Amino acid sequence: MKEWKSFDVITRGQGMWLIDSKGNRLLDGVASMWCNVWGHSKKELVDAIIGQTRKLQHSSLFNLTNDQAELLAEKLVKISTGMNKVFFSDDGSTAMEIAAKMALQYWQNIGVKNKTRFVTLENGYHGDTIGAMSLGYIPLFFSRFKSLLFSVIRTPTPHKYRMPKKQSFKEYENFCIQKIEGVFSKNDNIAAFVMESGAQVAGGAIIYPLGFQNKVSKLCKKYDVLLILDEVATGFGRLGSLIEYESQNSIPDIVSYGKMLTAGYLPLAATLTNKKIYDAFLGKYEDMKQLFHGHTFTGNPLAAATALANLKLYEKNKLISKIKKNTQLFTSRIDEITELNLVGDVRHKGMLMGIELVSSKKEKTPIRPEKSIHKRIFVEAKKHKIYLRTLGHIVLLVPPLAISSNELDFLLDGTIDTIKKVTKEL
Ligand SMILES: Cc1ncc(COP(=O)(O)O)c(C=O)c1O
Repeated sequence: MKEWKSFDVITRGQGMWLIDSKGNRLLDGVASMWCNVWGHSKKELVDAIIGQTRKLQHSSLFNLTNDQAELLAEKLVKISTGMNKVFFSDDGSTAMEIAAKMALQYWQNIGVKNKTRFVTLENGYHGDTIGAMSLGYIPLFFSRFKSLLFSVIRTPTPHKYRMPKKQSFKEYENFCIQKIEGVFSKNDNIAAFVMESGAQVAGGAIIYPLGFQNKVSKLCKKYDVLLILDEVATGFGRLGSLIEYESQNSIPDIVSYGKMLTAGYLPLAATLTNKKIYDAFLGKYEDMKQLFHGHTFTGNPLAAATALANLKLYEKNKLISKIKKNTQLFTSRIDEITELNLVGDVRHKGMLMGIELVSSKKEKTPIRPEKSIHKRIFVEAKKHKIYLRTLGHIVLLVPPLAISSNELDFLLDGTIDTIKKVTKEL
């Protein structure tokens, strides 16, 4: 992008703050791409990395395993109701690719040859690799790659602010559910339904009404369709719960974790599934039931040790119950933000807030790309010593979970002042 002449070079991180090569400090309002939990340079996590580095840096999960990956798998199964087995990978996109491949092959392994299609919610996002782009299709990002993507059936997302016609939100939610049921009842070839758990984050912080995900899970059971949930962005506390599908009362067949699993310190993702799916892959070598999928760094012990140390901190610090206080702080500022001139909608759950900027509140017209809103917000926010990033015309506040109340207030004050200043410029 031509207008970006240079970038700030971050050389250090201290708590919630990023420090650049010139010594400038920025409060990390993005949790370094939605994955930081405790802030930067947290002693326990750094110690875990150093400690493990002295013992074993990498070994493979091909014919072998390692103690850290084993312990982490055990831990993840323990905290994930209904899940029994773990497949490790390196990032969220890959975790979703694995989920899709597992679902597709599951049906073949049990002799159901026709279940090959996926159904997803419109506006979902599951990553940037080819399979993940196919599942989560955001036209702005992916339209150029359409020729590479596999075809997926999409049903509407219950998005209150952008419902297509005047109706109650309940009516619209029912319509969205009926659409899914319509697809399931007319097609007996659906392998799986895929959705982000709790909310679409990259799609603009679209938070589903409580009960929606539970209804989807019931439909999946009724029509014998696997449910794949993506908790890469929404799990581990982002929406206020450790495992979001539990608070949504919707146990999936396959779930993907990533981002905050290592508190954002090292790349690691996991795809978990239940015994039913796992058993369908179990057979003699020559049966060829196994999942032919593996990455070089699958089950990396440094990443696994970091994740274990991270999850230990969650328990020791009772993080999930502490998040409630910050959640209330977010809630208490919603009216103030909604009243701002450019703000069309404010959506919030847990430690996620989306502020949708529009040029007309009445028409709900998104601010046009030529207004360079992303750049204006970023530059102005820096003057307020905060690091903010927009998704198109939507400002996302995604701070590290353990941010203090004072720092969260600082972030919210800076965001409000930034939006006010940018409003004046426009
Ligand atoms: C819901 C969801 N799934 C998958 C991904 C992809 O994760 P990664 O960027 O680690 O590949 C993301 C990334 O933002 C995400 O938000």
